[in-house]
Amino acid sequence: MTTSSAPLAGKTIVLGVCGGIAAYKAVEVCRRLVDLGAHVAPVMTDGAERFVGRTTLSALASQPVQTSLWDEESPIPHTRLGQGADLVLVAPATARLLSAYAHGLAHDLLTNVLIATRAPVVVCPAMHTEMWEHQAVQANVRTLRERGVHVVDPEDGRLAGGDSGKGRLAAPDAIVAEVSSVLGQRDLAGAHVVVSAGGTREPIDAVRVIANRSSGKQGYAVADEARRRGARVTLVTTVDRPAPIGVETVCVETAAQMKAVLDGLAATADVVVMAAAVADFRPVSCTSGKIKKSGGVPEIVLEPTPDILAGLGAAKRPGQILVGFAAETGDLVAQAQSKLERKNLDLVVANDVSQPGVGFQHDTNAVTFVRPGGELESHPLSDKRDIARALLDIVVGLRA
Ligand code: C5P
Repeated sequence: MTTSSAPLAGKTIVLGVCGGIAAYKAVEVCRRLVDLGAHVAPVMTDGAERFVGRTTLSALASQPVQTSLWDEESPIPHTRLGQGADLVLVAPATARLLSAYAHGLAHDLLTNVLIATRAPVVVCPAMHTEMWEHQAVQANVRTLRERGVHVVDPEDGRLAGGDSGKGRLAAPDAIVAEVSSVLGQRDLAGAHVVVSAGGTREPIDAVRVIANRSSGKQGYAVADEARRRGARVTLVTTVDRPAPIGVETVCVETAAQMKAVLDGLAATADVVVMAAAVADFRPVSCTSGKIKKSGGVPEIVLEPTPDILAGLGAAKRPGQILVGFAAETGDLVAQAQSKLERKNLDLVVANDVSQPGVGFQHDTNAVTFVRPGGELESHPLSDKRDIARALLDIVVGLRA
């Protein structure tokens, strides 16, 4: 018996279970979700039924297990389930399921539900290490992430058949925490969050640019996380890759273009997160056409670009939150503190890009958050999504 004050009361969760040895853990996930007040509608694939009995899951869930598009009472069980869901959770998600979902292949009840739903989706992959590390699986996971699907990464540990390595289904605790966070955390609802991402490119001539190694991953993670927490998000990006679902994107190339767009957006934005790596210098002029080798080594004269963030800091409205990044190779905190003051910021995310796995191009980051008054908070090497979450936790705190 649950009460309406239970954390997930009133939420309908479709729990998809695929055929993997970890299917037995889905039973525990199901029980915990029901204990938290959720209405859990279980859907099993044919493979899942080889690992756990449908009676077990039916007994613990809020309604009987469904497995087929064809033999249920409703002629359209997938749309009914998809439309009624506040969240679709797949645990465990096999390589086959990830591939079908990434490619829009709706061939059984669960994949039909995934394609039919507009609700947030959480997938929890589980498989042998070799399969998890295969390029095709990783590409599918990337595609799903880019579309806004929440992925709870598998853990390192014992696998079926006595093997061990990365690929074990995340712990039920972690899965339930992600579901609760996706369903519950709307602490940026009503806010307009503007995020910049990627490195600017400053033209030298018709074909050459001054660029940097920024991948934009950290900015994309912040944009996605802010959207997930209910914000209206505008991503100003130099990176040619799809924005997370529900995020408005403006593509720019140079610092000047980025400044023009951001100055306009910041006039009304509640939060600006300046994750882009803006070039500090640009050629004074861009040669029309291509500079020919035959003319000898060209002399390229540089000038400073406008400091976009300093401009936003000078024009900051009361209540607006400005976040800057500081990619350093030493003297991290002192540099970040000076940036905070110089640019009139509320938070600086400082990272030492000389450390392995940190900053440009990596999926991971290790940062120190620096706030006015010298307050520090360090985050060890973790996924850029975790850093995005921690960053927005601080932003939400600053807005309160
Ligand atoms: O001063 P520094 O370039 O290290 O500051 C980094 C922060 O300032 C980042 O948030 C970056 O996006 C922003 N920046 C900017 N305009 C520039 C250079 C950096 O907005 N021209």
